[in-house]
Amino acid sequence: GKGGYDHFMLKEIHEQPTSLSQAIEGRIDPADGHLSLDGFEPDTFESVEDVQLVACGTSYHAALYGSLALNRAGVPATALLANEYSVTSPPVSEDTLVIAVSQSGETADTLNALRQADERGADTLTVTNVVGSTAARVADDSLFIRAGPEIGVAATKTFSSQAVMVTLLAQRIADDARGDPPADLESLLPDLSRMPDEIDTLLETSDADAIAREYIDSQAYFFIGRGLGFPVALEGALKFKEITYEHAEGFASGELKHGPLALVTPETPVFAIFTGEEDEKTLKNAEETQTRGAPVIAICPDDHRAVEVADDHLEIPETDSNLAGLHANVQLQLVSYYAADLLGRPIDKPRNLAKSVTVE
Ligand code: F6R
Repeated sequence: GKGGYDHFMLKEIHEQPTSLSQAIEGRIDPADGHLSLDGFEPDTFESVEDVQLVACGTSYHAALYGSLALNRAGVPATALLANEYSVTSPPVSEDTLVIAVSQSGETADTLNALRQADERGADTLTVTNVVGSTAARVADDSLFIRAGPEIGVAATKTFSSQAVMVTLLAQRIADDARGDPPADLESLLPDLSRMPDEIDTLLETSDADAIAREYIDSQAYFFIGRGLGFPVALEGALKFKEITYEHAEGFASGELKHGPLALVTPETPVFAIFTGEEDEKTLKNAEETQTRGAPVIAICPDDHRAVEVADDHLEIPETDSNLAGLHANVQLQLVSYYAADLLGRPIDKPRNLAKSVTVE
């Protein structure tokens, strides 16, 4: 059942402290920075030269998150839409690792990309929620996110867990392939162990319902972020359009001035995600939308400079920049949920969408 919540989506948003704890349980040791990922022996990823992550929809946003983490850790990586993989046909070698990110493990587009990568001689791995799924059977190896069943068509808790898993995996691949643990790990692991409790607090104290109410009559909704905030901006917009049926777009903050700024008016609120990656630039980009009359909602810690500039604020804790965007994403999940609820949308089963897309 819905456990006292009006919708599965809200229940699943609130399950994130638990699902995230399950994702990291036994896999990290903040004391010595050791990452133990299931059955992966030491040096499993020693020969990895480059990584391609393939996925669709929300899982693609987690894949993009992972590709950024890998690149930063010194491992060349790209995220590709699985449905574009056969036409893009990026070169692979036997030292290429192809990672399929799929909640269900049954998405036809993603399975096709996985099979193609395998046929071309790459090593394959899937990050999935479903033990015994087709992806888990097709890939050479699997890493399970342990999020528990997700009923709402809009993916919420599984996105958070996928993003955390690919972040950890990125560190592990870099460690094995480069022979030294990335410097990020030292600040990442303690913040990651705090994350479930912090998300719990965020859920209890969020002003997302008031923000949704304030902006419900807008013409369009824009989401901007930089670095790891960019996939979160894309995800914030996808969730919003899926369940509210309103026009929403996510942009890299720096891209606004290259075209999308033409869309900005007083009727288009801009949700600006601050992850601690060149925040002053993102703030400048947000201010450029304010100049055109757009209200700006800053998603950042309480003492952040953006709070003074923005029209509204959704709080996230002070945390490692590898994780800040995932806290912001939870605030955005809530905004989408409350906006859809105010608009009387069905939420758990949006029109035209299916939980698992098994056709090409
Ligand atoms: C959006 C959503 C979809 C899925 C996509 C891939 O909320 O759920 O975009 O993310 O269809 O599905 P999986 O992860 O099962 O491969």
